[in-house]
Amino acid sequence: MTHKIVILPGDGIGPEVAAAARAVLEAVGSAHGLSLSFESHDIGGCAIDAHGDPFPESTAKACAGADAVFLGAVGGPKWDGGGPRPEAGLLALRKTLGAFANLRPITLFPGLERLSPLKEERVAGTDMLIVRELTGGIYFGDKVEGDETASDLCSYSRQEVERIARIAFDAARGRKRRVTSVDKANVLATSRLWRNAVVALRDAEYPDVELDHVLVDAMAMKLIERPAAFDVILTENMFGDILSDEASVIAGSIGLAPSASLSESHGGLYEPIHGSAPDIAGQGKANPVGAILSAAMLLRHALGEGEAAAAIERAVSECLAAGIGTGDVGGSASTQQVAEHVCARIAEPD
Ligand code: NAI
Ligand code: MG
Repeated sequence: MTHKIVILPGDGIGPEVAAAARAVLEAVGSAHGLSLSFESHDIGGCAIDAHGDPFPESTAKACAGADAVFLGAVGGPKWDGGGPRPEAGLLALRKTLGAFANLRPITLFPGLERLSPLKEERVAGTDMLIVRELTGGIYFGDKVEGDETASDLCSYSRQEVERIARIAFDAARGRKRRVTSVDKANVLATSRLWRNAVVALRDAEYPDVELDHVLVDAMAMKLIERPAAFDVILTENMFGDILSDEASVIAGSIGLAPSASLSESHGGLYEPIHGSAPDIAGQGKANPVGAILSAAMLLRHALGEGEAAAAIERAVSECLAAGIGTGDVGGSASTQQVAEHVCARIAEPD
């Protein structure tokens, strides 16, 4: 069976890192006997230029019909002057796919401890996964705009909480079997529902997974005090938005971090967390590791190819440990050279 992967390279460094990710997918495909097909479509600024729309119908159709979607990045100063926004394409894409669960692993690669803004002994061994609810909570509640008074409603149903908690517990089973659920249950009614639903689900279906609860303000401190203490972190939408940005700097370069957005009805969306980096676009300087690790997540979550995913992760880790990297991690390789090294290690593992 051929797996259909749609690639949306996008803007700025998007096409450069997407080409690197595709090369690695092709290498792992031939090493592991996977049949993968690729189709590229426009999204974001380049789609505005070509079609007058950041998320053209042709792109939407291709994404809906794919087994998984890979995105580079969208946006840039060229489209900041008014008119349609490139980011609108990304929001429309997430909506089309029904992506409700955002997964962001934060891994400190051996040999790169010195890149972290935190002390080396503090960050060593950091390997966490943030699971953020993406379609509920205060960002999507009823809004009342106003100059004197304004409000945003935060609402969650038990079903929404269970759906995202299941993702976290399942992920924990493939890791250290520990989930830390983040809420503000001392103040918020939605957080009390959140906590009750998470505990009930754990007791009923995941008794083998350790669960604890941390209030979001305490979590903001603990993340930088002892990041290595966490395995899977489960949070609602807004808390997850803030904590995942905080956590993303721990590993040292924004160019290293991948993400996945999972859906119940689709194989999902996979993208590095960085933007289009217009300051380095077109120069072969972009770190492709975040994109390559996003491709590994695609294999694991959308296609069920965990072994192929692990082969990519191992190859990336070996390259970084050997000092092969782009300038942001202290290396001297180009985007394409990093991809070539990763492909070579996949083809001929040590
Ligand atoms: P950015 O992530 O593009 O860049 C921030 C800094 O990190 C820059 O100095 C950049 O050179 C560096 N950087 C980013 N990715 C890198 C990589 N792979 N390798 C080496 N260095 C890397 O964020 P910024 O500058 O705030 O946004 C630029 C544009 O990207 C904006 O138009 C923004 O709206 C868009 N954006 C798009 C996102 C997406 O497509 N998901 C996410 C964030 C921003
Ligand atoms: Mg954010």
